[in-house]
Amino acid sequence: RTDSRVRIVEVGPRDGLQNEKKSIPLATKIELVERLAKTGVSFIEAGSFVSPKWVPQMDNSSEILEHILTTKRPSPVPITYSFLAPNAKGIDNASALLQKHVGAYLTQAESFAGANDKPAIELAVFAAATESFSKKNLNCDIATSLERFKDVIQGAKQLGIRARAYISVVLGCPFEGYDVDPHRVAEIATSLLEMGADEISLGDTTGMGTAPRTQELLKCMAAAGIRSEDIAMHFHDTYGQALVNTAISLERGIRTFDSAVGGLGGCPYSPGATGNVATENMVYFLESLGMETGIDLDAMADIGQWISGELGRPNDAAVGKAVLGA
Ligand code: HMG
Ligand code: MG
Repeated sequence: RTDSRVRIVEVGPRDGLQNEKKSIPLATKIELVERLAKTGVSFIEAGSFVSPKWVPQMDNSSEILEHILTTKRPSPVPITYSFLAPNAKGIDNASALLQKHVGAYLTQAESFAGANDKPAIELAVFAAATESFSKKNLNCDIATSLERFKDVIQGAKQLGIRARAYISVVLGCPFEGYDVDPHRVAEIATSLLEMGADEISLGDTTGMGTAPRTQELLKCMAAAGIRSEDIAMHFHDTYGQALVNTAISLERGIRTFDSAVGGLGGCPYSPGATGNVATENMVYFLESLGMETGIDLDAMADIGQWISGELGRPNDAAVGKAVLGA
């Protein structure tokens, strides 16, 4: 791919919905995924195999995965659908469904070969950069979480699918403030890559990241020998710094960014954190720099307006509202 090509990972159906208090009907979740699949986006994070006691909103992720595996859909580009899985139970639940529908999804090797008649599936683990956040989000310390992720990543590899690995609170922690060590982030990323993760997504969960701190973190990653093509950036926009931090990341060679349609999102275990950077804002910004996202901005804006209405919340995508004249 050329240097001007940017990959957007649309996390709206997972990060965007997980924090909504009111139970969202399965049909609405599926409609969101199906509408996104028509926009040209090539990665959609569609659900989460976590404990329903911890995150009740993600309880019907099995149904969403099963829908994806059993529905024929013409999409403009090959699409990889991603699901979080933090432990053995998560990978067991996902893998039971994948084995039931073996042949209905592309393995990683097939998706590399450019086939697009079927969906590709990816599983994602999520570590934290601080002990307090690890305890709140995963109920265990970082070392224990990494042990568990080894099994999940190995399980994904056995299924022949991609494994993504998040690291949360890399630029600020709701419990430890700005006191997050970028060297520790690089160390955790190295462990996850050694376990076989295909990509590290660096989460600014709280949106506390600033341009200098983003710069410092990415320098530290490079100094640890981590390649920019193995890194994705995942900015929440709580402080309105996401696009500035995106610009810094682009300068440092990063070409994969997570965002959520309508600026949906938030982490239930990060008090006060608001949505992911809006996909509409991200696409407009990147295309203004001459970068290609492959995403139809008008279609994305329509979806942002529609899903915000469904959730009874204001549309948080400034660009979406502007292009719609809303
Ligand atoms: P625990 O309570 O220590 O787990 O939680 P446990 O192993 O003791 O199990 C407790 C119960 O949960 C048992 O059920 C298990 O079967 C069940 P019971 O016997 O009581 O009936 N259970 C599960 N059920 C379904 N799927 C599973 C599963 N695991 C256990 N996978 C655990 C540990 C990891 C499960 C819990 O802490 C958890 O689910 N945490 C997830 C929290 C979460 O989803 N947070 C949001 C996603 S991360 C995020 O948003 C950040 C990100 O966007 C990046 C960024 O912005 O930084 C990715
Ligand atoms: Mg997030």
